[in-house]
Amino acid sequence: MLPCGTFLILCSLTAVCYCTTDFLNLFGYQVTGKTLTTVSTSDDLVCAEACAKNKSCWGFQLVEYSTKCILFQSLTGITQDDTQCTYYVKKLGPVKVAGQSLSFIDELRVSLMYASKKACPDGWTQNGKTCYLVSDELSCYLIPSALGAFWNGSACVLPAMNTSYTCESVSFTLYNATDGEFCYLAIPQTATTSNDTQRYGYYNNICYEQTGGGSLASIHSSAENDFIDDMGALFMIGLIATSGKISSASDVSWIDGTPVDYTQYKDSTTPPTTTDFYFTIVDLYKDFVTDYTTIPERTSLLCRVAATLVLTKN
Ligand SMILES: *[C@@H]1O[C@H](CO)[C@@H](O)[C@H](O)[C@H]1NC(C)=O
Ligand SMILES: *[C@@H]1O[C@H](CO)[C@@H](O)[C@H](O)[C@H]1NC(C)=O
Ligand SMILES: *[C@@H]1O[C@H](CO)[C@@H](O)[C@H](O)[C@H]1NC(C)=O
Ligand SMILES: *[C@@H]1O[C@H](CO)[C@@H](O)[C@H](O)[C@H]1NC(C)=O
Ligand SMILES: *[C@@H]1O[C@H](CO)[C@@H](O)[C@H](O)[C@H]1NC(C)=O
Repeated sequence: MLPCGTFLILCSLTAVCYCTTDFLNLFGYQVTGKTLTTVSTSDDLVCAEACAKNKSCWGFQLVEYSTKCILFQSLTGITQDDTQCTYYVKKLGPVKVAGQSLSFIDELRVSLMYASKKACPDGWTQNGKTCYLVSDELSCYLIPSALGAFWNGSACVLPAMNTSYTCESVSFTLYNATDGEFCYLAIPQTATTSNDTQRYGYYNNICYEQTGGGSLASIHSSAENDFIDDMGALFMIGLIATSGKISSASDVSWIDGTPVDYTQYKDSTTPPTTTDFYFTIVDLYKDFVTDYTTIPERTSLLCRVAATLVLTKN
């Protein structure tokens, strides 16, 4: 397991962290949804791992006084229930509804409903400027009011949404990467002269803190590498060797858990080897250099965090 960065404490919520997928443990809320599968375990981390690995899984319940957990797909609601503390949901990127404010729990509900970032929530049908789901009246009222849902006698009806993306502040740069919309933040560092024993974990924590959950950036295409190059000089990125040394290309991974599907090493398909790995720097030639032990002049941390999805009623 990779270091989680920071233990998330949000309102009365705490987070279990599995590698790069955060789960929020909901105190005082119950989650309803279709069961995906059940796993025999009493360990929340084993459940989290199973859910993180399955793209259809949005949350789970670790059943109390039992040795199983239930994984959920297509969540239909998150409802208040003061007696519950056994439900967990995947923490997705932030979401806003234009012209509305969302409570923390409603933002979580909306982010899960619009996880596939389409005009209608997952599982709903689009009909021109509206979306509908045949449901009962009560389920319709459980939908966050900011979305403007109403029940027409047989179906729950919502306006179709226009989707766009934004970043939390002007210090960030928005970019449409191959794996989604992200906000990038460059944090300048002072050059170091003696071996920098803080290594990538320390710098990744700075990214986590400064971006509200992001990490040192991963790079997945030459277009993305060019975009990064345009942002300035040298950057520390999230290419790491968890074994602490590099002897072949298979020793490296991205700290955010994304696949290593693009690399750019100087004159080679293998990274510079090192028996003591500190961090990876992208140099002036856009090459990934893995054998620095100190931070060179004019280096910034390059942090990447999911962009905020903005839903605008059509
Ligand atoms: C998710 O889990 C379900 C039920 O176990 C399984 O059928 C499906 O193939 C899994 N999907 C992925 C992407 O692993
Ligand atoms: C409610 O909406 C559904 C889906 O658009 C539609 O099929 C149905 O006729 C509507 N019912 C009424 C009473 O308008
Ligand atoms: C981002 O890029 C993808 C793939 O090129 C494209 O389908 C999508 O529409 C783009 N998103 C935005 C918001 O421009
Ligand atoms: C700095 O790190 C390198 C590589 O790990 C090592 O060979 C060297 O002895 C270290 N230097 C000092 C002063 O610790
Ligand atoms: C939503 O997008 C459509 C198509 O791009 C556009 O015609 C419409 O004006 C947009 N509506 C809003 C409310 O932004």
